[in-house]
Amino acid sequence: MCGIVGYIGTQAASSILLEGLRKLEYRGYDSAGIATVLEGEIHCVRAKGKLHNLESKLAGEDNPARVGIAHTRWATHGKPEEYNAHPHTDTAKRIAVIQNGIIENYRELREELKERGCQFRSDTDTEVIPHLIAEVLQQAESMEASPLVSIEPSPFLEAVRQVVNRLEGAFAIAVISADYPDELIVARQQAPVVIGFGQGEFYCASDTPAIVPYTRAVLTLDNGELARMTPLGVEVYSFEGQRLKKTPRTLNWNPVMVEKQGFKHFMLKEIYEQPGVVRSCLENYIDSHWTAADHRHSPIRLNLSADLYADLQQIQIVACGTSWHAALVGKYLLEQLAELPTSVQYASEFRYAPSPLTPNTLTIGVTQSGETADTLAALAMEKQRRSGHASEFQARLLGITNRPESSLGDLVPHIIDTHAGIEIGVAATKTFVAQLMAFYCLAIDLAQQRQVIAPAQLEQLLVGLQQLPAQIEAVLESQERYIEQLAHDFAETQDFIFLGRGINFPIALEGALKLKEISYIHAEGYPAGEMKHGPIALLDAKVPVVAIAMPGTVFEKVLSNAQEAKARDARLIGVTPMDEHEAAETFDTVIPVPHVDELLSPIVTVIPLQLLAYHIAARRGLDVDQPRNLAKSVTVE
Ligand code: F6R
Repeated sequence: MCGIVGYIGTQAASSILLEGLRKLEYRGYDSAGIATVLEGEIHCVRAKGKLHNLESKLAGEDNPARVGIAHTRWATHGKPEEYNAHPHTDTAKRIAVIQNGIIENYRELREELKERGCQFRSDTDTEVIPHLIAEVLQQAESMEASPLVSIEPSPFLEAVRQVVNRLEGAFAIAVISADYPDELIVARQQAPVVIGFGQGEFYCASDTPAIVPYTRAVLTLDNGELARMTPLGVEVYSFEGQRLKKTPRTLNWNPVMVEKQGFKHFMLKEIYEQPGVVRSCLENYIDSHWTAADHRHSPIRLNLSADLYADLQQIQIVACGTSWHAALVGKYLLEQLAELPTSVQYASEFRYAPSPLTPNTLTIGVTQSGETADTLAALAMEKQRRSGHASEFQARLLGITNRPESSLGDLVPHIIDTHAGIEIGVAATKTFVAQLMAFYCLAIDLAQQRQVIAPAQLEQLLVGLQQLPAQIEAVLESQERYIEQLAHDFAETQDFIFLGRGINFPIALEGALKLKEISYIHAEGYPAGEMKHGPIALLDAKVPVVAIAMPGTVFEKVLSNAQEAKARDARLIGVTPMDEHEAAETFDTVIPVPHVDELLSPIVTVIPLQLLAYHIAARRGLDVDQPRNLAKSVTVE
């Protein structure tokens, strides 16, 4: 949610800031704005809508300012209008602030400021911040003995420090002042901030893509920390005012990940990256030479601490959205392969209604961004509520993410890095498949270590896993054009139903979510057997039904449930490896997929559903990579 960028140094700030916003636009695109310190004044330009509106406003402007901040917004408080766009300034326009997050106590702060005569120009929670900073600075100036001495050498830093201590909620802010043109202050409380170190120039941002074109030396602020950036360096302090010693680290980064490379959209590029993502997981975590004869040791190399697995009795998984769907596939694998009772919770629900404490329980947080506020809070809560209990109740926390450098990485001691790299398209695709791969590795490892899987079955599964990259490639090669054509049939469609059972039920949910988030078509995923208990009433000739029919335990059942839909005139689309003749008799339309082991099938069946959603949305001329109302990184509750 919301992207923040800041620069201080020797170059013109505005072009660096705009470039940074381009890289962060996936975090929100309701409005954008930029503020610099120019000739002793705050120069602030803002625009409603996407970044190109701001770019048009700035076109032709020659701004030599060497310090500035910029913001791309995902609206929380206040409509996406220009007057609500960041940066926000104080009344005298000497201070400019950008914020990512939510200031929960903004109402009382606003009332307090209003009573003292302050006039507000926006509906946002953020605007209280510049007004409060201005007040603290004014009070300090009017007093003979300045109280702003606890942080030397900057009254500006001290004023920001005092104000952040009054803010409640999860936020990251960056602040500049016309009166302190050589300083940029940035603070973090539960929302991500990275600082980049150049030669006599420094950068800050919500996420690394805005910084990596300039430097790989980065430092992540922790909660309750603020930093003073000047052209001479960066000083980090706690919210209490103590100077902290922190050392930058070097980022491992492949710039190709944030370029479209000839694809029309990032989403399509990321769909095509999936064979590579699966390969990379296989290479990193699976011993390809393992055979049943090696059954005394695990073929999986996750390098997790033995403490995580010791006497394990239960697993609970917290996640949101697509990651929650991956967790549902994970539950299936952990229960069916490793025989471990597993529960999957929406992180946003678990936070306020956690399950009763169970002993020897592994808690897994799944998140592609590594920044989802609900998932982080659920994990933090779990850690905290278990801390006072006996050893068997102590928290065992594991994160699954493609962003190990994220806040998740700081919060949990163990991470499975899914090696999918950063994902730019707002609709998750390659990160989902990578999360599934992590669950295959975890479930197989646990099954082997608990000796609940026959070596021959394990060997067969490993062979199947090795074949997946080529099978995904086959679907992409043989089906993309066909699905693009098929998308034409749904120009007027308003509702879609996706059906799956067993391990493919979460894939039905995922197919529906992909379609609704990028095409704005209403879509629902159901376990096929549930249709007759209500949802079947929705069906008629206008509602296409996509059924995932993979041979295995529930194959015949899915086919029967699909026929029930067809009997209600629904157009029936089958995702299946059935032979041509048989498939044509069963379905109105067939999207063929390779024959794979049912347990591995989600990795293959999700591909056509991603392509279907993509092509329907692209055909409708919608903004596939930045669908309305969404953001890639949901850092608010
Ligand atoms: C859907 C999508 C969202 C995210 C959800 C959780 O395509 O991307 O539903 O899956 O917001 O995000 P992460 O995985 O970053 O925790």
